[in-house]
Amino acid sequence: MATDEGVRLLLIGPPGSGKGTQAKQLTERYRVPHISTGDMLREQIRKGTSLGEEAKGYINDGNLVPDELILSMLRVRLSQSDSQGGYVLDGFPRSHAQAEALDALLERQGQNIKAAILLVLDDETIVKRLCNRRVCPECGRVYHLINHPPKTEDRCDEYHCRATLIQRPDDNETAIRNRLRIYHEQTQPVVAFYKEKGLLKAIDASREILRVQIDIERALEG
Ligand code: AP5
Repeated sequence: MATDEGVRLLLIGPPGSGKGTQAKQLTERYRVPHISTGDMLREQIRKGTSLGEEAKGYINDGNLVPDELILSMLRVRLSQSDSQGGYVLDGFPRSHAQAEALDALLERQGQNIKAAILLVLDDETIVKRLCNRRVCPECGRVYHLINHPPKTEDRCDEYHCRATLIQRPDDNETAIRNRLRIYHEQTQPVVAFYKEKGLLKAIDASREILRVQIDIERALEG
């Protein structure tokens, strides 16, 4: 029987804990795609698809998009050829039902998760981080007005992009606090799920970006 050598990593953590930021480093290191369910949904909204139209209200209010929509979108993505050698999955699973569905899918394919990385950060730091986040609508690069500002005010640093940065519609305090409430209620059980399997690596996400990156690398090596 063929051995499964793919590197499959899950990035779990509250909104704004740095999942997208750390995913970028991990995908470069392991040469696997970054699969973010949040980015995929925003792409559907940009394209004006029926899925995007359906998801928009949930996302802008900070609620979870229903499982059936997420699961059908993700099954298609994980069946694509670039995902066969592994991936960094960012923002999925977010509920116990999603974790069970991923487990079943992997089992059918004879594949394993290498680790579930949990980024740990307190709620008040998160509110401050997300209120100051700006994103590039063209290339998706993420900035922070204080911790990681663009070189030119309001402009993406990427040479071929230079688009005007925007604030995500769900990065307002009301939506952020709702996202946090949902994280504690619905995503926290996912943490216990992977802890029981011995796959959980908890990382202090309050430290600076490079430090968090090093801590993740050490946890994965260990
Ligand atoms: P999603 O896009 O996944 O949003 P999220 O989980 O709320 O996470 P964020 O993207 O807000 O934050 P992040 O952890 O990636 O942090 P980042 O690196 O940007 O989902 C959006 C919505 O889509 C959901 O609310 C839901 O509606 C829907 N959805 C998505 N997946 C779903 C699913 N599976 N099921 C159902 N619905 C789903 O960093 C944040 C900021 O902090 C940045 O400005 C960054 O520069 C800065 N920063 C990062 N690290 C550090 C550091 N160490 N120190 C200082 N600043 C830092």
